[in-house]
Amino acid sequence: MAEAFNEITLPAEKAERYAAVSAEIASVLEGEPNRVARMATVASMLANSFPHYFWTGFYVVDETKGDELVVGPYQGTLGCMRIAFGRGVCGTAAATRQTQVVEDVHAFPGHIACDSRSASEIVVPVIDGRGELIAVFDVDSEQPAAFDAVDREWLERILGATFR
Ligand code: SME
Repeated sequence: MAEAFNEITLPAEKAERYAAVSAEIASVLEGEPNRVARMATVASMLANSFPHYFWTGFYVVDETKGDELVVGPYQGTLGCMRIAFGRGVCGTAAATRQTQVVEDVHAFPGHIACDSRSASEIVVPVIDGRGELIAVFDVDSEQPAAFDAVDREWLERILGATFR
């Protein structure tokens, strides 16, 4: 497993795998407008493509509150239900609309530990075609510093293409 992990984190191999899964996601979702179905499919296909993904899923903007995220489609152990904008890594990504790459979650002020096994994390804002924030996409890893510029670039690309 350690060797497999090291292999998968080689930037070129990881980028190739993202390119392949990106095309698969587009193909599977062609003609499917339902947003929950799209989110569930993205979470499943990415979680099953990468061994460094431990918790994979969406926190969606709760339209009745506006400034709060509520858990959406995900793969992994039980996630916390609600996150206020500005709190933790997900809340920071929502409030700033900027991708957060966190090498050590324990060093991130206000980090919300849904599962103590999470060591590093990436959270990407999901913006629709009208420029509205609809969700954030959160991936946690048991490995420290598991996410880099390759994950960021490809996740931003896949989410931008899937929810625009
Ligand atoms: N760690 C996240 C909370 C969500 S879960 O880990 C599934 C955060 O600080 O935003």
